[in-house]
Amino acid sequence: MKKTYYLTTPIYYPSGNLHIGHTYTTVAADSIKRYKKLQGYDVFFTTGSDEHGQKIQEKAQENNMSPKAYVDKIVADTKELWKMLEIDYDSFIRSTDDFHEKAIADIFTKLYEKGEIYKGHYEGAYCTPCESFWSESQLLEGNKCPDCGRETHIEKEEAYFFKLSKYRDKLLKYYEDNPGFIQPESRKNEMINNFLKDGLDDLSVSRSSFDWGVKVPFDEKHIIYVWIDALSCYLTSIGYGTENTENFEKFWPADVHLVGKEIVRFHTIIWPAILMALDLPLPKKVFGHGWILFEDDKMSKSKGNIIYPEPIIDLYGIDAFKYFLLREFSFGQDGSFSREKFLQRLNSDLANDLGNLVSRTVSMVEKYNDGILPSPKKTEEIDDTLVQMATGAADKVDAYMDNLNFSNALEEVWKLIRRTNKYVDETMPWILGKEGNSERLDTVLYNLSESLRIVSILIKPFMDKTSAEIRRQLGIEEEIVWDNAKQWGLLKEGSKVQKGNIIFPRLDIKEELVKLNAANNALIEKRTAAKEVPKVEVKKVEAVEEKKEEEMITIDDFAKVKFKVAKVVACKEHPKADKLLVLTLKVGDEERQVVSGIKQWYSTEDLVGKTVIVVANLKPVKLRGIESRGMVLAAEDADGNLTLLSTLEDIADGAIVS
Ligand code: ME8
Ligand code: MG
Repeated sequence: MKKTYYLTTPIYYPSGNLHIGHTYTTVAADSIKRYKKLQGYDVFFTTGSDEHGQKIQEKAQENNMSPKAYVDKIVADTKELWKMLEIDYDSFIRSTDDFHEKAIADIFTKLYEKGEIYKGHYEGAYCTPCESFWSESQLLEGNKCPDCGRETHIEKEEAYFFKLSKYRDKLLKYYEDNPGFIQPESRKNEMINNFLKDGLDDLSVSRSSFDWGVKVPFDEKHIIYVWIDALSCYLTSIGYGTENTENFEKFWPADVHLVGKEIVRFHTIIWPAILMALDLPLPKKVFGHGWILFEDDKMSKSKGNIIYPEPIIDLYGIDAFKYFLLREFSFGQDGSFSREKFLQRLNSDLANDLGNLVSRTVSMVEKYNDGILPSPKKTEEIDDTLVQMATGAADKVDAYMDNLNFSNALEEVWKLIRRTNKYVDETMPWILGKEGNSERLDTVLYNLSESLRIVSILIKPFMDKTSAEIRRQLGIEEEIVWDNAKQWGLLKEGSKVQKGNIIFPRLDIKEELVKLNAANNALIEKRTAAKEVPKVEVKKVEAVEEKKEEEMITIDDFAKVKFKVAKVVACKEHPKADKLLVLTLKVGDEERQVVSGIKQWYSTEDLVGKTVIVVANLKPVKLRGIESRGMVLAAEDADGNLTLLSTLEDIADGAIVS
C-alpha cells in the first residue's frame, strides 16, 4: 500500500475576494502535494471556505443580501481563482455543506455528553473581524485586538464552554514529545510563553448574539463558535462524522496544516485540545508561515490594501507567479510584496537563467546536429562538476522540502541552471563547431540537454507547465520520475528536439509596472462597484517610480542630518514583526527607543553594551505599532551581509558625528 499524506490550507473567510496572501498558502500547499505525489505518496489536499459567523453576517447585511447569497459569489470567484492557478485540491469544503453542518452538530453533542463542554456565562472583549475573544492582558493599548490592531467591543452572553484549561499540561507534553509539531520553532516558543505558561482559560464555544451558523442541537438559541466549526472541516472534509469514513480512516491524522502565523494559536492549542477531547490522534505538524506585507502592513481583505493575483496571472502566467511566491519569501518569515521585485525576478531567474538556457540549448542542437540529440563521446574534467551538481541537486531539494523551505529548494535548482549556463560559456560550443571538433561538441550538447532534463524534473512540483514545455522542446516522452533526477545519462540520443517559443521573454520593467498597476486597479474598481462584494476603503497601488540618477548634495544638505554616538542599553524583539528589533539607546543624557530592521542579523543579546551611530533628528515614526525615534546606521553588501556601524575607539555616548 502507498504511503499517505494529508495536508490542508486554512478554510478562508469569504468576506471578500481572496488576495495574494491566501494564494500564497494555497500555492505552497499545491506544490507540496505535487512534490509528495512525485515521491510516490497517496496525497489528499483540503482547502475550502469558512462561511459562518458574525463577520460574514454583518458583511452580508451591509450589502442587503442573505449571508448564503453573499458568500456564494465569493466562493465561486475563489474556485475560479484556484482553477486559474491549477490548484490540485481534493476537497473544497464549505462550512455550509450539509454533511459538514450535520457532523459538526454531532461533534458538539458528543463533547457535551462527555462533559468536555458545559454551560456558563461569558463577558469579554471581542474582535469581530478575527472572531476572537481577548483577555485584558492580551489587548493592546486602547483595548485594540492584538492580532489585527482594530477596536474590540465588550460582549456578554450565556455561553457553552469547552474545558480547554485541563489540556494545558497535555499540550505542553505533546509539544515536548513531538518537537516538529509546531514549525517554525520560534512559533512554538510564542505559544508556550504567550499562552500556555500562565495557564489556559476555558474557551467559550457558542454565541447567541447572532444566528448565522450551526445551531447547538440541544439548545437552539446558541450557535456553535465559528472556530470550532471551521477547524472541524479538516475532519469532515475527509468524511469524519459522515456516512463515508473511508478517507478519514486512510488519511487522518493530518501530516501538515499550513496556516498563517496569526492563526497558529487556534491550530496548536485549541485544535489539538478538541481532538484530545474527541479521543482522536493529533496532526503531525502545523506550519505557521509569515505574512506577505504590503508596505509593511499585513495585506488584508478587511483593510483593503490588496493586490489581487488575477491580473498578475493574466499577464505573466501561473508559473512565473508561483515561482516568485515560493522563491522570494522565506516560508516562515514575513516579506514585503513588490511588483517590481516580481518583474526583476522574472527577468533574471526566469528569462535570463532558465529561458535562455533552454533556448540556447535547443538552438545549438538544431544548428549543429539538425535537431537530433547526439550521444556523448569525448568527456573532459569540466564535465564532472556539472554532472555532480546535477545529480546531487535532487537530494538537496529533498532536504529543503522536508522543512518546507521552498525558497532554498528552488535556489538549489537555480544553482544548477546557472552552473549549466556557465558550462556553455566555458565549453564554447560555437568554437567547437567552427573547429569541427564534433566529438567534443556532441558531448557538450548532450550534457546541456541532460542537465535540462534534470531541471525539468526538479521544477515539476512548482512549475508544471514550464517543466512540460522544456520536455516537449527536448523531445522527452517518458513520464516524470523523481529519482531519475539523481541519475546522469538517461536522455536518449537520437531524440528530436523541437524549438518552441521563448519560455520567459525579457520584459521592460517600467512598462510592465504601469500595465500591472492599471489591471489591479481596474479589478479593485470592478469588485468594489459590484453589489456582491464588500465596499472596502481601497488604497490604490501606484507604479513604482523609476530610479533616479545618483544625485549630488552640498555640505549644507549633509549638515541637516545629526548623527550621534549611542550605547545600546536594552534590546527586545518587536512583538508584531518578524524582522524588527526594538533598541533602547543611551545618547548622552537622553534615552530613546529605536526600531530597526536588523533581526535577521542580530539577536537581542548581541547588541546590549555596544556602541552604535544613530541619526538623532529623524522624525519619530510608528513601526507596526511601536514608536521609533531615530535610526541606527548599518552597512550592507550585495550578498546581504549586514553590520552595524560603530566607532574605532571608545567614546562617550552623545558625542556628535560629523
Ligand atoms: O483565518 N500573508 O481565514 P482568513 C500570508 N477562516 N498569508 C495570508 C495573508 C497574508 N497577507 N493573508 C491571508 C481565517 N493569508 C479562518 C481560518 S482555518 C480552520 C480557519 C492566508 O480568510 C494565511 O494562510 O482570514 C492566513 O492564515 C489565512 O490566509 C487567513 O485567511
Ligand atoms: Mg484573517
